[in-house]
Amino acid sequence: MTGGNRYRIAHISDPHLTTLRGVGARELCNKRILGYLSWLLRRRREHRREVLAALLRDVHDRQPDHVVITGDLTHIGTPRECEEAAHWLQDVSTQQPLTLIPGNHDCYTAAPWEKTLGLWNDFMAGDGGHAPESARGLFPTLRRRGPIAIIGLSSAVPSLPFFATGNLGAAQLQELERLLGQTGNEGLFRLLLIHHPPVPARLDRRRALTDASDLQQVLKRAGAELVLHGHSHCWLNTSVSGPQQEIPALGIPSASARVTRPGRRAGYSILDLTTTASGWDVEVTQFELAADATGFRRHGLMQWSRARS
Ligand SMILES: [Fe+2]
Repeated sequence: MTGGNRYRIAHISDPHLTTLRGVGARELCNKRILGYLSWLLRRRREHRREVLAALLRDVHDRQPDHVVITGDLTHIGTPRECEEAAHWLQDVSTQQPLTLIPGNHDCYTAAPWEKTLGLWNDFMAGDGGHAPESARGLFPTLRRRGPIAIIGLSSAVPSLPFFATGNLGAAQLQELERLLGQTGNEGLFRLLLIHHPPVPARLDRRRALTDASDLQQVLKRAGAELVLHGHSHCWLNTSVSGPQQEIPALGIPSASARVTRPGRRAGYSILDLTTTASGWDVEVTQFELAADATGFRRHGLMQWSRARS
């Protein structure tokens, strides 16, 4: 706890922190060649390690109790990138504990679990977690931290060339509904992490969560207190319907983006949760890289109260 009964979570997403410099031709089979060209022509100039390092210093100064990362650590999910990202995760976790879910770029094509996402297992697995053979065997995950149930989903699945869709699948959604019911009964603040936005209306079909309507039905029945996501590389404030109240769904820009367009420059958010007699007071502060890239400035502030379900 940061102070009194306040619990502080920092949310970052889409750092795309790896380099594809020196990648071998054998690693660029099928769809990966397109991802490599995208990195070569655009992404390597947009996603900057020095911006990510500055953002992490800023996050660290705000002394979060926990950091959550909603995917896309890599560009095309090669074993070498996943290894590089595993070292980065180790580094970040020495500063503060963290919970991770994967994004579509981390699962760009089918790849052996133990050489790719399996390297991140310690940061993704739920409490008392096991070592599965695929992401489908791991998610949804549940970690209880302070007054919060952090529930991680994986929407990361390989998709066709020129597509960046996500999918949760019936088994994951069924287990999600059970976890939401259980942790709701425990009186915990249910924080859902997913890479793709649960409301895909503002994304084109080729980038959307294909079973978003199934997820929305689960949330309508079982409820949740907040959804955090990435994927959009911009600030997105939407909501989905719960049993009694709307559930805010907040998306953030990439943690490493050095771009000129406002709203798409690197950013992170700080969630302060204060437990009250009837529920929680929630405050979300958004921080964005300054136009001259000299530091991070406050971009937005949202405050609301939430009754316990
Ligand atoms: Fe991304």
